[in-house]
Amino acid sequence: MNNFTFYAPTYFAFGKETENECGKLVKRFGGTKVLIHYGGGSVVRSGLLERVKTSLKEESISFIELSGVMPNPRDGLVYEGIDLCRKENVDFILAVGGGSTIDSAKAIAAGTVYDGDFWDFYEGKPVTEALPIGTILTIAAAGSEGSPDSVITKEKGMLKRGASGEAYRPKFSILNPALTQTLPAYQTACGITDIIAHLYERYLTNTTEVEVTDRLIEGLIASMIHEGPRVIENPDNYEARANIMWAGMVAHNNICGVGRSQDWTSHNLEHELSAEYDCAHGAGLAVVMPAVFTYTMKQDVMRFAQIASRVWGCQMDFYHPEKTALEGIERLRCFLASIGMPLTFEELGAKEQDIEKLAHTACYGDGSGSGKVYGFTTLEQTDVENIYRLML
Ligand code: NZQ
Ligand code: ZN
Repeated sequence: MNNFTFYAPTYFAFGKETENECGKLVKRFGGTKVLIHYGGGSVVRSGLLERVKTSLKEESISFIELSGVMPNPRDGLVYEGIDLCRKENVDFILAVGGGSTIDSAKAIAAGTVYDGDFWDFYEGKPVTEALPIGTILTIAAAGSEGSPDSVITKEKGMLKRGASGEAYRPKFSILNPALTQTLPAYQTACGITDIIAHLYERYLTNTTEVEVTDRLIEGLIASMIHEGPRVIENPDNYEARANIMWAGMVAHNNICGVGRSQDWTSHNLEHELSAEYDCAHGAGLAVVMPAVFTYTMKQDVMRFAQIASRVWGCQMDFYHPEKTALEGIERLRCFLASIGMPLTFEELGAKEQDIEKLAHTACYGDGSGSGKVYGFTTLEQTDVENIYRLML
């Protein structure tokens, strides 16, 4: 195991009706003038926004609103939010929604207190300062409620890039599983897929002797295999939703990723697809993961065979572990299909003729890239093209 530091100071309030605590929590973490940030309207339709406002009013906290965050959030709204926060002297941002809303809130939080262009953070500058952020989560998926990360798409060139820094960890996150009961089955499944992807990205490591984090990851994926179909079958299953919601946080606040190298190839390749075709991140990952795993399996066949036997119930073939490894990848594909996820490029609206361009952007970005995708293995542009071809 490698040396590491781990500091994840987010305060979590989990369970039914916890959103009614948001006023008290904003006060506790020093907010006096709040920007409520949300998406395309699900929180209005569900009545959540009204409850949030009531809770803030009860604590005499003033607020303004900025709505309109789109899935795969854009830089345009971030600039608007920064201007608004400066003009209105906002000192706390409350994100009400999913990963897109939380990520947009984080970008506004950093940009408001920064003299330069907030996009600098999405080109590698670490985020060291930001307005405090609180979240009320409505979909179990991205894990942004506990992560130090944010992913934004720059409209010019449709570049989707991430930024990181401890200042991006929310001060508090409210997780009420009942709020996710209004999700369409497809979005629920996208979320489950993203959670599984966050676990695989950490599982695929070149660090040896990481049994504890291996076992944590395996247990979490196994619980998604159990809970996923239950919640797709019965969207009102509170207990299944509760387990999925907490798994989404644990999968991505990095408690499972400490002390080990990590992969992130699937995410890097997927971000090109959701930037270009505006598909849901989880749906993109369902198509990308099996292809990436099949292509990179030779890096450590035993690791893939291990997860196949421990999580996917495959019989270990000690003479031909690559067969076990492949069977595990196939079971992952079948599971994703069973919860309604797409499996091919075409189903995402992606086009074969774009493969070279997609691979080039993945490797070179907007010109600042190294020409390679680093992760579990190091990939050249031709490797990335080959992987995209496996998705056809
Ligand atoms: O905008 P509204 O109307 O709220 O609708 C949303 C949106 O259309 C809807 N929705 C959310 N909660 C709902 C609901 N509809 C009904 N009932 C509810 N309770 O679901 C749609 C998707 O929402 P979004 O926020 O985009 O989903 P998700 O949480 O999957 O976030 C995806 C974004 O997170 C990024 C992805 O790249 C993508 O841009 N990621 C962020 C990470 C991070 N910050 O740590 C890590 C992830 O790997 C990921 O890359
Ligand atoms: Zn993800």
